[in-house]
Amino acid sequence: MIPEALKTSLETRVAEAITPREAAVDVMKELQAHYGWLTDEAVVEAAGLLGLSPLQVEELATFYEMIYRRPVGRKVIHVCDSISCWCADCQGIITHLKERLGVGLGGTSADGMFTLIPCCCMGMCGDGPAMSVDGTPYGRLTPELVDEILELERQKA
Ligand code: FES
Repeated sequence: MIPEALKTSLETRVAEAITPREAAVDVMKELQAHYGWLTDEAVVEAAGLLGLSPLQVEELATFYEMIYRRPVGRKVIHVCDSISCWCADCQGIITHLKERLGVGLGGTSADGMFTLIPCCCMGMCGDGPAMSVDGTPYGRLTPELVDEILELERQKA
């Protein structure tokens, strides 16, 4: 159950939107921030706020890679696997991340710190291979730089 203040703020956001769907991502992201991921309860709450069915919210949620329909770690790593990064050996970076974190794609490290998710182009094609950690972008990745970033992000947590 979301706090009344959050509910009121989301109702205002929906009311200001031209169509409820326009506010759907904002609503899902706010509920995700509240719960840590978009729980089944959050899907039903989002549907109520947006005037959509839970299935319609589910369809939107599964379309956006920044919306998580299952629990994630404290920080989410999105690593780009689109064409420019692929040409810059993102597969080597992905393999390194998997080894360092001890997870497959979609997995969360045993300490609960990082979830590793592949993503489409992040708009950093000239700086590939690229990834983001909790929204902070990092480019020109090497295995050594990845290790430094993981350590830095652990310290920031
Ligand atoms: S292809 Fe990776 S950032 Fe564009």
